Amino acid sequence: MNNIKNMKRKLFFVLLMVMPLCAMAKQVVIQTRSLSLVINANEGHQPRYVYFGQKLSPSELEALPAPVSGRMDVYPPYGMWPQSAAAVSLRHADGNLTTQLYLTEVKQEGDKTTFTLKDPQYPTTVNVYFLARPDVDMIETWTDITNGEKQTVTLLQFASGVLPIRRGEVWMSHLYGSWANEGRLVQEPVSQGIKMITNHDGARNSHTDHAEVMFSLDGRPQELSGDVIGAALCYWGNYKLKVVTDDTEYHYFFAGIDEENSEYHLKKGETFTTPHLALTFSKEGLSGVSRNFHRWGRKYMLANGQTERKILLNSWEGVYFDINQQGMDQMMADIASMGGELFVMDDGWFGDKYPRKVDNSSLGDWVVDKTKLPEGIEGLLRDAKKHGIKFGIWIEPEMANTVSELYEKHPDWVIKAPKRDLALGRGGTQVVLDLCNPKVQDFVFGIVDNLMTKYPEIDYIKWDANAPIMNHGSQYLPMADQSHLYIDYHRGLEKVCQRIRAKYPTLTIQACASGGGRANWGLLPYFDEFWVSDNTDALQRIYMQWGTSYFFPAIAMASHISATPNHTVYRTTSLKFRIDVAMSGRLGMEIQPKNMTEEEKDLCRKAIAEYKQVRPIVQFGDIYRLLSPYDHKGLASLMYVTEQKDKAVFYWWKTEQFQNEHLPRIKMAGLDPTATYRVHELNRIDLQPLSCEGKTFTGAFLMNHGLEMPYTHNVEWGKKNNWSSRVLLLERN
Ligand code: GLA
Repeated sequence: MNNIKNMKRKLFFVLLMVMPLCAMAKQVVIQTRSLSLVINANEGHQPRYVYFGQKLSPSELEALPAPVSGRMDVYPPYGMWPQSAAAVSLRHADGNLTTQLYLTEVKQEGDKTTFTLKDPQYPTTVNVYFLARPDVDMIETWTDITNGEKQTVTLLQFASGVLPIRRGEVWMSHLYGSWANEGRLVQEPVSQGIKMITNHDGARNSHTDHAEVMFSLDGRPQELSGDVIGAALCYWGNYKLKVVTDDTEYHYFFAGIDEENSEYHLKKGETFTTPHLALTFSKEGLSGVSRNFHRWGRKYMLANGQTERKILLNSWEGVYFDINQQGMDQMMADIASMGGELFVMDDGWFGDKYPRKVDNSSLGDWVVDKTKLPEGIEGLLRDAKKHGIKFGIWIEPEMANTVSELYEKHPDWVIKAPKRDLALGRGGTQVVLDLCNPKVQDFVFGIVDNLMTKYPEIDYIKWDANAPIMNHGSQYLPMADQSHLYIDYHRGLEKVCQRIRAKYPTLTIQACASGGGRANWGLLPYFDEFWVSDNTDALQRIYMQWGTSYFFPAIAMASHISATPNHTVYRTTSLKFRIDVAMSGRLGMEIQPKNMTEEEKDLCRKAIAEYKQVRPIVQFGDIYRLLSPYDHKGLASLMYVTEQKDKAVFYWWKTEQFQNEHLPRIKMAGLDPTATYRVHELNRIDLQPLSCEGKTFTGAFLMNHGLEMPYTHNVEWGKKNNWSSRVLLLERN
């Protein structure tokens, strides 16, 4: 009995899927340099996905068969087939929970395609957009939902996009973690049921899971081969990624803002725009998808993505809150003497009535603490100039402490649920400012604007955010719209960022959020880089930076040399190892140079000089991940290759140390097989050069065979330690 029922259901379902495709479908093709996305568009029906992958030729397009047994709708609404997952769900003004969205128009203008969908019974319009970025193989999709009804409608679900992924042996690679352990890679097969990745922090969203994912389509994920789809939701607020696998031939990937506790009341005539979802595909494995994300990111997303980043010293792990004029001057002198280009003064410099001594006061009072810095920021800028370097400063603009003049003046400016006590964060007094409130937006913009107007020489801002939204309540929003808090907070901050960037486009701004809480493509158009993690331990950084590099380029990944024992994990690694790891990202230092020996300073001086030489390769090059630390083979290795394939930097880090262990020889990738490359070791500490030093090898040899690296360093007895790593520069002859 059940079987017959099931068969009937299936038949009905297949008919439902296939019927509209029998009509003459208009084939809409969205192309990039090497990708095609094909959608069949029939007026009066939902547009349907037909193909996403490697670019198709005109004859392949002509013969392209429509998929069977899949729900291929581009933007399925909720209600008329409630069994299947929907992208959008709304409660119409009259209470009707069903929506139908049928195509009325397709427009292709330049690289942008717009499908206009309308409900036959209600004046609800949804525009589904696809924006091709032809030169970087990325397609961004998002939607506009417009309420044409006479009264407010309630948005209950509002995904940015959907993508059906053909079953086979599909694996997901994504990132998870927590504070001081961000960007950890997890790889798992996609199986029956629902896999959901969400974040509810409110203000930051990448400490734990990330809003980006890759799908390997042909089995266990490979770095250098295999078909892979990549997806990144460009949104730094609460998000939801969902993969639904049911009894059809497809997995259905949905991505968008997480609607939980965020129903949105869309007023008459109002349009709700969902965040962009960036989609890509590569036949060159996970690293291929990463290269697409990196190129797209540098060119279209990241602030100043085409400009080399400066080598800096940040004061945090060196002095923590112990800021003073003389100390800053000494740190500036030290980083300048090592070849650094920028000094950043971290937390602890501000507060008048309540000077910031530790983390329990003063956020909001962005005036110099004159007892610590009698000559103010002017004095620091003067010292920076004296040392020939630039100066940067730390702020945490979205926050206040209850112990602050700001909170005393504006207790109504903080996020707080009605009739509830304040929820307090860091230091027992930290609160989040209510960015739904335009006055708060002006205040937050003013923090940057005042600093930059008074001190236009400031070159860099470290923008921190050390608290989540800790209770659900806006003192600004009406009671009926309290569910708008997360979305309106996000919009408020976005407005502030837009104003800052309009006025200060070239100012370097780092997104820090208790470490790596803000590694997200929604935010990076306003920020030049992010702090990968508060954990600067080189070994753990290999794992975190490996994962982070799946979606973000080295130019955006702040990676600093710090002291040992490490301040978070208390591990002691060699300085050479710490340098070699930090040099694979945006190099900086996070240390008290006063406590370093002359020999250590010399090593850093040399590393900084050599990093300057390879900086364009690292910051603008193509990544090839060669051996994953997550494979636990005792080694991790990756390389960056220039687009012209004339230069490359190869990294080799040991992740374990056992006597007489066996380590694999690493085959390189991404080189020109016919070219010959000369090898030069950077940051060398060994008494003898490597046997490959100065020699030339063909790209083919380096990629088919690879170079042997000695497992330990050949250094004087007293300097031996259990860490080894190598960085090689390859230059085409
Ligand atoms: C956060 C940041 C650190 C540092 C401190 C200052 O934890 O992640 O890098 O700036 O705040 O309080």
